[in-house]
Amino acid sequence: MTNTSLTGKAFPEGFLWGGATAANQIEGKWNVDGKGPSIQDVMPVGISGAPTEEPTQDNLKLEAIDFYSRYAQDIALFAEMGFKVFRFSIAWSRIFPNGDETEPNEAGLAFYDRVLDECEKYGIEPLVTISHYETPLHLAKAYDGWTDRRLIGFYERYARTLFERFGNRVTYWLTFNEINSVLHAPLMSGGIWTPKEQLSKTQLYQAIHNELVASASATKIAREVAPNAKIGCMILAMPTYPLTPDPDDVWAAKLIEHDNYAFGDIHVRGSYPGYYLRKLRELGVELDITDEDREILKNTVDFVSFSYYMSVCETADPSKRVEGRGNIMGGVQNPTLEVSEWGWSIDPVGLRVVLNDFWERWQVPLFIVENGLGAMDKLTEVDGVKTVEDGYRTAYLRDHLIQVREAIEDGVDLLGYTWWGPIDLVSASTAELSKRYGFVYVDRNNDGSGSLERYRKQSFYAYKEIIESNGASL
Ligand code: BG6
Repeated sequence: MTNTSLTGKAFPEGFLWGGATAANQIEGKWNVDGKGPSIQDVMPVGISGAPTEEPTQDNLKLEAIDFYSRYAQDIALFAEMGFKVFRFSIAWSRIFPNGDETEPNEAGLAFYDRVLDECEKYGIEPLVTISHYETPLHLAKAYDGWTDRRLIGFYERYARTLFERFGNRVTYWLTFNEINSVLHAPLMSGGIWTPKEQLSKTQLYQAIHNELVASASATKIAREVAPNAKIGCMILAMPTYPLTPDPDDVWAAKLIEHDNYAFGDIHVRGSYPGYYLRKLRELGVELDITDEDREILKNTVDFVSFSYYMSVCETADPSKRVEGRGNIMGGVQNPTLEVSEWGWSIDPVGLRVVLNDFWERWQVPLFIVENGLGAMDKLTEVDGVKTVEDGYRTAYLRDHLIQVREAIEDGVDLLGYTWWGPIDLVSASTAELSKRYGFVYVDRNNDGSGSLERYRKQSFYAYKEIIESNGASL
């Protein structure tokens, strides 16, 4: 159902239009200017295979799209589209190469000063993710990542360093990218070196607890050293529909929703919800939670941000299970929806569902910080200019934004929308370049070949027009 009654209606004044990226997927220069290796530098196939011991040349992330050298040109392209906001992450191992040092690496901090200079030049608001799947490799190998509560202290030092250095230049901060994804991708999301199949539930839920405390602690530190900062949590949103009206399916879907809601509930309400405590009891998990942890968790967020790519279904009946492919979590395939070339269901209405659910549940401003379509693009020439005729991407963008406008009309308080990723980058789950999300094409291929030249796709002009009209052209 698409309600066309709002055609021509603009988005609220000051709505933050833009795009989102992550350091490990764009920067490259993985060992330059004092940067240490991160877990991504040993994940040449993303989460679809085991990590390597050391960085290997077949890992596209080592050079990615070389944003580290080309940031000025890329931000100029974002400005040309009219971006009001640019979401990027800071690579933890550029600032603390091993993660457990006491002094930061000045060259790493200086790079992000340069990025912020460019944003300021165009009046683009930065939106900074403190940790986006980039745990320093040393913390993964020597501490087993977030299973070890000493990481709370290392993260606090890192976050404090960022707030002290950039707190007067950056208003919007996200503590951890898709914090709930640790349930499914413990290495990528939690820096946990123990293979997933060997990880105990107690280790996993302790890691989650440690991250949640670290996140709340960062909020507390920001209140002290960067009082103008607005801190958000970031959740992988994937609405789970019951496969059938059978109440058992409805409840099965609810349980999956609980797994994800818990992360928002704790960030917004400052304590563990009853259904989560019950789950821990049923799993036989006893967590190491101190009184101080409980106090720290009370430092709640200013807003909730989330990524949205797709919805899934759930059923209590194993004979009806048809596993779909999808963003980290997987789930039962929705038979009513089309899928992308990577098998991700395309469900614009699901975005309206998420926006309404989150708003009704938490009553804090929301921010869509990822939404996008990964597709095989073909570079072509139109009137002698190299471009990509990506009407499919523009259609995806428009269909989702129409639902966003509906949700705003439903009363949802929404700060902005950042498309993932506005420029082609290396994918997280499969570490490939042929899964292109950008409005800007980057000439680099899965085999590492390519000039790294940038070209405007046709969707570049479509998004520009949408931003220019503040959504009224949709
Ligand atoms: C999100 C991540 O899960 O989805 C991004 O925050 C990621 O890092 C994006 O790139 C799209 O997933 P993929 O696997 O297609 O890159």
